[in-house]
Amino acid sequence: MKHWGIAIDGPSGAGKSTLAKRLAQELGFLYVDTGAIYRTVGLAALRRGVDAADGPAVTALLPGLTITVAYGEDGLQHMFLNGEDVTAEIRRNEVSACASKAASISAVRGFLLEMQRRIAQENSVIMDGRDIGTVVLPQADLKIFLTAAPEKRAQRRWKELLERGQRVELDQVLAEVMERDRRDSERETSPLRRAEDAVLADTTGLDLEESFQLLLEIIGSRIGCVKGEG
Ligand code: DC
Repeated sequence: MKHWGIAIDGPSGAGKSTLAKRLAQELGFLYVDTGAIYRTVGLAALRRGVDAADGPAVTALLPGLTITVAYGEDGLQHMFLNGEDVTAEIRRNEVSACASKAASISAVRGFLLEMQRRIAQENSVIMDGRDIGTVVLPQADLKIFLTAAPEKRAQRRWKELLERGQRVELDQVLAEVMERDRRDSERETSPLRRAEDAVLADTTGLDLEESFQLLLEIIGSRIGCVKGEG
């Protein structure tokens, strides 16, 4: 049976994970959040007191890390670090910067590449990240580059953190979003960029429901009705 692959890339806060999760449910695909995998490496560095930007030090940690992706009965993706469920902890704000720094290290990207490809080989997936269409799944059936203005993305992220009880200033979140955009786009290995064959979806002026409808339309027009063929 054919396994479908839909790649959704874009900067943080564009709505990738919320939208991809809903789309996966709608299509009966597996949702793969690759940012969570990088966050798990970032968390490992943070816990060991290793500067996530220190390439040799983070690379030295890798052989001791067992990172596993598993799906609960609820269908949600859980991340395990050496057997411990770290799904909630990787969402902490300080882990975001560590993940972005660790993701710039090419040994880290190589370490995680096969894991991501294997999941896509074995399932129909909607995979979101920064380099899915360009590096991880260059043969994806559909590639979407999802973006929105930085101010809008910072506002969404700020609300999300507040809902989780993390009090931060909006200005700080905007500065962090812009810094991560810069680091993710300017790094040498697999930088965040739109694949030439990716469809651009800008959600700046759209609410969540409108963004969802836009992506459904794109999927419908590009790969037709694929529901249930996973
Ligand atoms: O999507 P996110 O914010 O949870 O991702 C965390 C960091 O991981 C982000 O700063 C960039 C990096 N990342 C990446 O480099 N490649 C991916 N495929 C996914 C995430």
